Amino acid sequence: MRFVDVINKKAEGEELSTEEIRKMVDDYTNDRIPDYQMSAMCMAIRLNGMNARESTDLAMAMMHSGDVVDLSDLPGIKLDKHSTGGVGDTTTLVVAPLVAACGGTVAKMSGRGLGHTGGTLDKLESIPGTNVEQSMENFRKIVRENGVAVIGQTGNLVPADKKMYALRDVTGTVRSIPLIASSIMSKKLASGADVIVLDVKTGSGAFMRTKEEAFELARLMVDIGHLAGRKVSAVVTDMNQPLGMAVGNVLEVREAVELLSGEIPETDPLYEVCMILGSGMLELAGLAKDDAEARRMLKEKIENGEGLAKLRKMFELQGGDPSYLSKEGMEKLLNVKKHVFLKADQDGYVNRINAEGIGTAAQMLGAGRATKEDKIDPAVGLVMKVRCGDSVKAGDVLAELYVNNEDRLEEALKLLKDSIHISKDYRVPDPMVYGVIS
Ligand code: URA
Ligand code: CA
Repeated sequence: MRFVDVINKKAEGEELSTEEIRKMVDDYTNDRIPDYQMSAMCMAIRLNGMNARESTDLAMAMMHSGDVVDLSDLPGIKLDKHSTGGVGDTTTLVVAPLVAACGGTVAKMSGRGLGHTGGTLDKLESIPGTNVEQSMENFRKIVRENGVAVIGQTGNLVPADKKMYALRDVTGTVRSIPLIASSIMSKKLASGADVIVLDVKTGSGAFMRTKEEAFELARLMVDIGHLAGRKVSAVVTDMNQPLGMAVGNVLEVREAVELLSGEIPETDPLYEVCMILGSGMLELAGLAKDDAEARRMLKEKIENGEGLAKLRKMFELQGGDPSYLSKEGMEKLLNVKKHVFLKADQDGYVNRINAEGIGTAAQMLGAGRATKEDKIDPAVGLVMKVRCGDSVKAGDVLAELYVNNEDRLEEALKLLKDSIHISKDYRVPDPMVYGVIS
């Protein structure tokens, strides 16, 4: 069959066979299908969709386009988590060490930040000395010793996704639920974990703007994981405001350290989302019998400091200097030229926050990248002082900015101000968790 016939099939809304999908991915990865034909196929998929079976075939074919990490020689059940990307989302730095402290094996590969969202690798590298590019051999060694390591993807993990994503980016085919689901799951499956907990964000700062879309994506990713023989669950969580208060690299590491030190209340959204994700991982792995027991275990590891000890050890084994993870150490790293305070210009309630605007403002200060080549300043960013639903008086501080380079400070301040809506009317804040799919 010529590939044009397969494109026609999908353009007419028909189902593709396993063999057609496999051959398509293999031929495209090896340059036997040109970009223009693959673009047409991606658009046909965006318009006509794919069912769970087709999406699983796509994810599996992509997964096998490069290296597949085999973690079976490591002890215990291997656990992973993934977030579809948000602002102020430092859950990995909390959940990975906590789950390891509870007896899980967390061998995780993470990504970098782009645009308004942060990336775990950039946060890790904000602690001097930390090397996220470990050899597979060293990665395994660290996991064996400490139960947890977080590194960058190895060079040849899912090359099909790199090629397809670059194409989708410029052909209006990123926003397709089956293509997103198979792209994310191909990388998760190739990373070798037995248990995968997904955090699908919805709201102003997320890929999925509506709850309905977020649930559809979550359902499909869970189905793909199950059909591929893994234990998977997903949580749909809110991204209508930053998850944590800190947005910036060292700032987010500091917030993770504070949470692991028991300094953040249980009612805090970041705390709650960390509990849900950690609990899901422990339950699926059979390390806890239910949510209540899992939460008790996680809480105990916060209270007795074992979670923080795991995080410190993880940094140390990856070359980082753990002395920076103390209060004094963090102060040293956050020694910026200038602190600027955004203040409320009226009394009222924080009615809405635009998370994307907050993330972009932090990026303008140098905390994130607009293009892959941009350099990050680990010390800069901002700390929110309000959440949706808070009441404020004129003059109250809404956010504290950590500034080194002032080139885009005015622009960032304006965007930040426009992203925090204050009104006389109280609006009940969105819930932080919309549902769990397993
Ligand atoms: N993130 C991914 O990894 N892939 C997508 O297609 C979209 C978001
Ligand atoms: Ca549960």
